[in-house]
Amino acid sequence: MNRQLFVGPVIHTDDEGQLVVLQRAAILVENGKIISISENPQPGDVSADYVRVLSVRQFLIPGFIDGHIHAAQFPNLGVGYDKHLLDWLEAYTFPLEKKYADAGFAEHVYEAVIKRTLTMGTTTACYFASLHRESSVILAKQAAKFGQRCLIGKVNMNQTRKDGYCETTEESITCTRKFIEDIAKINSSLVKPIITPRFALSCDMELMTKLGNMAKEKDLHVQTHISENLDEIEAVTTTYREYPSYSAVYDAAGLLGSKTILAHGIHLGDTELALLKTRECSIIHCPSSNTCLRSGLCDVKRLKDRGLKVGLGTDVAGGDSSCILAAMRAAIQVSNHLAILNPGYSPLTHKDVFHLATLGGAAALAMDDETGNFSPGKQFDALVIDLNVSSGPLDDLVEYSLDENLQRLVYSGDDRNIVEVYVAGKRVK
Ligand code: GUN
Ligand code: ZN
Repeated sequence: MNRQLFVGPVIHTDDEGQLVVLQRAAILVENGKIISISENPQPGDVSADYVRVLSVRQFLIPGFIDGHIHAAQFPNLGVGYDKHLLDWLEAYTFPLEKKYADAGFAEHVYEAVIKRTLTMGTTTACYFASLHRESSVILAKQAAKFGQRCLIGKVNMNQTRKDGYCETTEESITCTRKFIEDIAKINSSLVKPIITPRFALSCDMELMTKLGNMAKEKDLHVQTHISENLDEIEAVTTTYREYPSYSAVYDAAGLLGSKTILAHGIHLGDTELALLKTRECSIIHCPSSNTCLRSGLCDVKRLKDRGLKVGLGTDVAGGDSSCILAAMRAAIQVSNHLAILNPGYSPLTHKDVFHLATLGGAAALAMDDETGNFSPGKQFDALVIDLNVSSGPLDDLVEYSLDENLQRLVYSGDDRNIVEVYVAGKRVK
């Protein structure tokens, strides 16, 4: 048995969603799982094989959850924000994703993706790979090797395209079944497959229905995009005239359930929100991407008020950073812009985005029984934060409270302030 003890200031969210700030706590971890969290521990209270006492001014927080990231698009970070979504997909995204027909290229990029996102503090990620099964399995193997908790989707697209970046319905289904078997063979408790129809413009109703059935048959998560861009929505409603809304298209395919993760959801109407709530779906807010591609200002408060589970996504490479800290900051900025435009609107706070990035994200991925906070029984997925690293963006020149230090991290910190990262108790940075 391997027992670890972490002692120092701790900030996390309790199971009721309230921010908890502990000046001095001890977290006991056994074989990667949290056994207890106690306040004001005394020396010698518990014994452990490994004891990590945080230095003054360091603090522990739960690992970040990236609810929507395209691993295949990682090389394009920072490129191509001159276009809106549909033109951006054609000009920059599909040409890059086609390259993953080459497994060597996948190996090269996916190792970098997993290493980089772990460095950024992402302990759990929900990935889109590309159409290619072999390359998608390489992503899963890299995640298992370097120790990131994740859901990985081989992307499905059966709408014919001139550039050949598409598959037949039969190929799509056969490959997806094989992909699920391949992931099972990796035999990692950290890595799971997720059914990934790209969006309603890339798949027809037959394929989406078959994928919906597969998700039910195998009790798998589902992810796709929804209501991101006005031209996209118009194209969806034109293509699927017989359905009353974008959400109704996915519902007709049987894709909506309590393990369905929908990225963006900026322009959803009230009836759609009610449907998604009934089906217990989650929305992943992708504020950097929504701004870079000028898709819109997503009102997260409205989504939460309607009872939807909401998490945060970097949406690399629609978003310009693979760091969830940047997504937290972008979420606040978008919310502030909504407040400027709508007097009386109360914007998201640092506490709100901290919740979205941790326990809220875990709940959105239906993984809050495993991760998201430091409740006993969960996996120890954690970050050690140090705001005073000499290479970092901040200097500790005066004393701040722990809550103020959380604000400084959210508003002004970066990955240099994330000095240690743990997934299931294993140090991965
Ligand atoms: N909609 C369909 N595919 C994509 C994608 O790759 N990125 C984003 N942001 N939206 C999409
Ligand atoms: Zn996306």
